Amino acid sequence: SKKITIAIDGFSSTGKSTLAKQLAKHLGYVYVDSGAMYRAVTYFAMQNGCVGPDFFDKQTLINSLPFIKLHFEFNPDLGFAEMYLNGENVEAAIRTIEVSGYVSKIAEVSEVRAKLVEQQQEMGKDKGIVMDGRDIGTVVFPDAELKVFMTASPETRARRRYDELQAKGQEVSFEAVLKNVVERDHIDTHREDSPLVMADGAIEIDNSALTREEQFDAVLALVDQVS
Ligand code: C5P
Repeated sequence: SKKITIAIDGFSSTGKSTLAKQLAKHLGYVYVDSGAMYRAVTYFAMQNGCVGPDFFDKQTLINSLPFIKLHFEFNPDLGFAEMYLNGENVEAAIRTIEVSGYVSKIAEVSEVRAKLVEQQQEMGKDKGIVMDGRDIGTVVFPDAELKVFMTASPETRARRRYDELQAKGQEVSFEAVLKNVVERDHIDTHREDSPLVMADGAIEIDNSALTREEQFDAVLALVDQVS
């Protein structure tokens, strides 16, 4: 079977990354978490005084973009690649509720998107890649052989993200997580540049009532059809 490109898009916490990691492992493909890249830029913006509770200095962030170097490094113990910002492992730092609170604002900036999309397309040029995000099937890889659009109810999604944060020992209320999920979905679907929409030819999967195994088997059957 030939190597293909798999684009997985959807709302936050729909289990995109779980599915993408399972697929990449099974197929021997590269997995790229594009959200981690937007989170890393957000973390940079927070660290460098470009964004805070009541301000957003967009121009300074734009001017700083040439100094933001992102790369992934495979961690064999974890079985997936971790995000590095200017040589520093930021995998834990980018998963906080604070970063989640700012990331959709940062992801609205066209200059940020252009930089990340270029790097993502470069990573996918040899195919054999599974990438998840919001604009993968629409903008990054419009010619992907397989496009999946994942949905689930906001409560299901907030519950998942809440459980994840709890497991990492982060003190946060379920209400705060639900609010963040709903706010991000709103910004992500309403922004001008590359809004989250279902790509042409994408297959929608509502996984509110599916187990991980059921979802994996369903998508693997789709992969077999096109590869
Ligand atoms: O996937 P994750 O929830 O970690 O993504 C964090 C945020 O990054 C999203 O809410 C969205 O604002 C932004 N994002 C994006 N385009 C992508 C991936 C993520 O705008 N391809």
